[in-house]
Amino acid sequence: MTRKKMRKLSREEAKKRIEELRELINYHNYRYYVLNEPEITDDEYDELFRELVELEEMYPEFVTPDSPTQRVGAPPRKEFGEVRHSIPMLSLQDARNDDELRDFDARIKRVLGLPMNAEIEYVAEPKFDGLSCEIVYVDGKYTLASTRGDGIVGEDVTPNVRTIKTVPMRLLKVQDLPVPERIEVRGEVLMSKKDFQKLNEELARRGEKTFANPRNAAAGSLRQLDPNITAQRRLDFIAWGVGVVEGISFKKHSEVLETLEKFGFKAAKPRRICKNIDEVIEFYHRIESERDSFDYELDGIVVKVNDMELWERLGSTARSPRWAIAGKFKPRQRTTKILDVVYQVGRTGTITPVAVLEPVEVSGVIVSRATLHNFDYVKLMDVRVGDTVVVQRAGDVIPEIVSVVKDKRTGKERPIEPPTRCPVCGADVVKEGAYYRCVNISCPAKLVQALIHFASRRAMDIEGLGGKTAQLLVERGLVKDLADIFYLKKEDILKLPGFADKSAQNLIDGINRAKQDVPLHRFLYAIGIPNVGEFTAKLLADKFGSLEKLMKATYDQLLQIEGIGPEIARSIVEFFKEKRNIEVINKMFKAGLKLKEVRKEEVQKSPFAGKTVVFTGALSSMTRDRAKSYVEMLGGRVSNSVSRKTDLVVVGENPGSKYQKAMRLGIKMVNEDEFLEMLRSAGVEV
Ligand code: IVH
Repeated sequence: MTRKKMRKLSREEAKKRIEELRELINYHNYRYYVLNEPEITDDEYDELFRELVELEEMYPEFVTPDSPTQRVGAPPRKEFGEVRHSIPMLSLQDARNDDELRDFDARIKRVLGLPMNAEIEYVAEPKFDGLSCEIVYVDGKYTLASTRGDGIVGEDVTPNVRTIKTVPMRLLKVQDLPVPERIEVRGEVLMSKKDFQKLNEELARRGEKTFANPRNAAAGSLRQLDPNITAQRRLDFIAWGVGVVEGISFKKHSEVLETLEKFGFKAAKPRRICKNIDEVIEFYHRIESERDSFDYELDGIVVKVNDMELWERLGSTARSPRWAIAGKFKPRQRTTKILDVVYQVGRTGTITPVAVLEPVEVSGVIVSRATLHNFDYVKLMDVRVGDTVVVQRAGDVIPEIVSVVKDKRTGKERPIEPPTRCPVCGADVVKEGAYYRCVNISCPAKLVQALIHFASRRAMDIEGLGGKTAQLLVERGLVKDLADIFYLKKEDILKLPGFADKSAQNLIDGINRAKQDVPLHRFLYAIGIPNVGEFTAKLLADKFGSLEKLMKATYDQLLQIEGIGPEIARSIVEFFKEKRNIEVINKMFKAGLKLKEVRKEEVQKSPFAGKTVVFTGALSSMTRDRAKSYVEMLGGRVSNSVSRKTDLVVVGENPGSKYQKAMRLGIKMVNEDEFLEMLRSAGVEV
């Protein structure tokens, strides 16, 4: 319910809704903490909680001591000792959009008696989605660590936190600063997305239960009675504040974080000292748009008044301080219903079950389809048509179904059966492991998908060749194998619906551009060798240097390469054994395809070897992806941001802030022509 609607409720209605919300929240708490089977997403839970908090704020007379708002988080588990926090570990109020951040700013000015045009200085930092923890240092020595628990009393996890490498056992000495007699450092215990994935893979291999997300994995790893298990999991600690401090004092929150860094902690970063709420909002948008590039899961930003003297004047409610707020990102999980299931045939013939959903908005995008991965997954989750499910969307990743809300079943749900024939060409299907595959090598569905992949940005990067065009080219018989793409004529394309003279010419130009000097690893990725993704393709290009050599490689030779296992080795050998594949590759060369094969010695000599390169602004002669892949092929590393570690910045048209930063740091810069010259000197024909 929106705040506006809440205000319209009568006293009686509000009372009723408060009671209803309490019951709902208690029920979901039970499902989450006791049964470990949540029925709604965290965001949906937060939404209910927030509504209750707001209604209780409007009608404080209805607050009862047993309201879920009166206790924060989970009570400590009995197996751990208890630690009473010197200062309660409160939680944060949420803002879901710019307006609510502005409301927060206005409220602060109101409480402080300042005019609305006054400017408050804030610190904005990421909100890390982990487990909050307090670590006490007495005379600079690690003494005690506890979880937040219910905010008042937490669990004693001193031996467990000791195993986290980024938690100092002794505070570093800081010039002109005495060692504090006592300092309670607060922060988040986290597991990186990468380590979470690795851990889950390992658990799955051992047949053990996996974790739903990095936060649960961090919590499960920290709250282990045997600290040796915690030690085996790679946890991290990022500090975001302090509790009691004795022996030193702070005036500003930014000073707290800087000092914690000097003491040897990782502190919340990137952070920005904002002159006013507009700058906070800018930061909020920036971090949300960059959310996927962080090593850790973020669920928002935290905004804090920088001047700590104001903290006392602003005070706190029972649950949260008035000097800080969380700017939440749009939720990535929502519940919805499965209306139907369709079967999609991929480029290797794999048949993927795809759920057709009642459309639902997930982090700003309407989602109406989600992958069910394979039929083992369907069986494991016991997902059925008609089920209410939780869908998740993260960045560019295909939306997926993460859980089924079984309590919502009515009995009318229909099981999802594997197909007996290919849904596109009607051929037989075979089961290979968890997957069903169409056996027809010339199934048109495979070719369409193969073509889409071949032309995609990270493969051959053919501008203007997307899904629709690929479908049309195959349907009209203009493309019968991948090589046909290089034989297309403008007249052929003009026959396709939706193409005019200019767009047809653009596509032809795009195809011609894409066949020049293709880095070997891109080509290997593009031709769709089963089990060869970008990473393996790079590995192969690096080891063999030429297509010819790779084609001659034996199974045993391939197996010797670190990172290549029996399955990949077999796929490669079988791919090149297939006469048809060789014919298609040769046909591509006949059409003028040129690979850029680089030998190790050349890489070592190249002007990019071992260098970190950053691009800013648009390039006119090639796409950014192609430029990046040349640098990587020649032994360089491409980074997205400028820092002191950057060796070279390539400046295109209309460069962004990276250009200014590079100027400030005095980093070497080249323009597009100079960049092309560098490529040419390394043997790339551009
Ligand atoms: S400041 C009074 N800063 O978010 C509470 N919290 O919902 C002050 N969190 O319990 C908290 N990143 O576990 C703060 N940069 C950050 C944070 C952060 C994550 C967590 C923390 C807190 C929860 C509040």
